[in-house]
Amino acid sequence: MASFLEVIDVRKYFPGVKANDGVNLDVRAGEVHAILGENGAGKSTLMKLISGLYQPDGGEIRLEGRRVQFDSPRDAIRAGIGMVHQHFMLIPALSVADNIVLGDEPGGIRYDRREAVRRVRALSEKYRLSVDPEARVARLSVGLQQRVEILKVLYRRARLLILDEPTAVLTPQEAEELFEVVRHLKAQGIPILFISHKLDEVRAIADRVTVMRAGRTVDTLPTADASPQELANLMVGREVVLRVEKPEQRAGDVVLSVENLSVSDADRRPRVRGVSLAVRAGEILGIAGVDGNGQTELVDAIAGLIPVSGGRITFLGEDVTALPPGERTHRGIAYVPQDRQRDGLVLDFTLVENTMLRDVAHPPFSRRGLLQHRAARAHTEKLLEAFDVRPRDPDRKAGDLSGGNQQKVILAREVSREPSLLIAVQPTRGLDVGAIEGIHRQLLRLRQAGKAILLVSLELDEILSLSDRIAVMHHGQVVDIVPGDTATREQIGLLMTGTRSSESEVAQPSNR
Ligand SMILES: Nc1ncnc2c1ncn2[C@@H]1O[C@H](COP(=O)(O)OP(=O)(O)OP(=O)(O)O)[C@@H](O)[C@H]1O
Ligand SMILES: [Mg+2]
Repeated sequence: MASFLEVIDVRKYFPGVKANDGVNLDVRAGEVHAILGENGAGKSTLMKLISGLYQPDGGEIRLEGRRVQFDSPRDAIRAGIGMVHQHFMLIPALSVADNIVLGDEPGGIRYDRREAVRRVRALSEKYRLSVDPEARVARLSVGLQQRVEILKVLYRRARLLILDEPTAVLTPQEAEELFEVVRHLKAQGIPILFISHKLDEVRAIADRVTVMRAGRTVDTLPTADASPQELANLMVGREVVLRVEKPEQRAGDVVLSVENLSVSDADRRPRVRGVSLAVRAGEILGIAGVDGNGQTELVDAIAGLIPVSGGRITFLGEDVTALPPGERTHRGIAYVPQDRQRDGLVLDFTLVENTMLRDVAHPPFSRRGLLQHRAARAHTEKLLEAFDVRPRDPDRKAGDLSGGNQQKVILAREVSREPSLLIAVQPTRGLDVGAIEGIHRQLLRLRQAGKAILLVSLELDEILSLSDRIAVMHHGQVVDIVPGDTATREQIGLLMTGTRSSESEVAQPSNR
């Protein structure tokens, strides 16, 4: 098959970082080509070079055999390269259609909105990316926002689609829908470059995979011949343990207890309906459920970010239901939020400033209201080391870090506070396999240290391998709480649909 895109010995340097240092890639017409690599390996940088957002410091890019040079994303899109970024770039206040045609509006000076809506509708039918052109982007789910991003590049007649970690932000169901779209686009002859950390996914959807390590491409192979273990080893450059051992641990006193808790959303619709649960010291309580069944609202309420409409939250024996979030943090509740860029980090702040976000008002990092720079810096350096944040530079802005490394900074900050309770929502989202292993070890270390952990994840494997007990939520309620060591995917999957297999049935000898 002919090459559609060739990247030959491409280089891109940032101060102190060789982000791309000899990258070679060829993407054939009509293939789905995956890129795998550790956090910070240079994947997003490569995609930004191909899509004209950055200019290479060396090497060349060829499109259908001809050398191209893009001075801006506009040039690249004109040549047919469409990129959907790791972090979306839509304008929430505008409608779907407005976002899609933005900068390329029909009607010239007088924007013809009706025509825009009509075109977007036609496009979404053609590519089977259904979304309401008149809906406001702010109200769309993440999965739908992603569709808008894809439509936006198709509207500009993309002939190559680049998806940077498209599934990291999707639920498993949404990911399945995206794969349908990818297959459909491929059938229409549009090659797709696709970044992912999920080895199963790469094997399921891609024809070939290129592995990057430390700014270089190390190998390209057909996915049919690549085992997950082999891919992991290629990426990391050493043997990776894909599953961590969970040591024995006896749970201690109750750290958090939630009684009959109810939470409603801004439109007064009930999201959490009478949930009761407890998390003990030295225990990981996993919360499983299809996305949108109240998990996020439950933990947001426990962290104090949203008000409750009924019930009680007790932390270390005290009623904290009405305490402001800052006070809960101070008392020992740490929180790793779902959206790292919105709630976890200040992208314009340095890593020192970001690790200090929760501590600026307290000793030892603050005295008489002044941040103690030297202490803060030393502390940050230690964290970057312990959590393998790359590059290990406390003065770098958070926004300049790769996506996975941003996530590691949040985890480092929250875990290192040695909280009595850690609430972790999708803690390993966007992390490479090696980093996931590291974070799982950190969570287990907290557990061994007698801390309580509330783990919300859409990754069933993560829930199953870490949790001591698993609470399954459906429609805002806890359907059941089951022991982690005997739980199976099937059992949890069934509970996630709201079906409760009655214990009596299991226990009855007549059923054997
Ligand atoms: N604008 C920038 N300024 C300075 N350094 C940068 C910039 N963009 C990326 N880097 C650095 O280049 C390296 C590669 O980053 P890149 O975002 O390409 O990684 P990645 O493979 O996409 O990682 P992830 O899986 O975490 O998204 C990292 O060390 C990162 O810190
Ligand atoms: Mg990236």
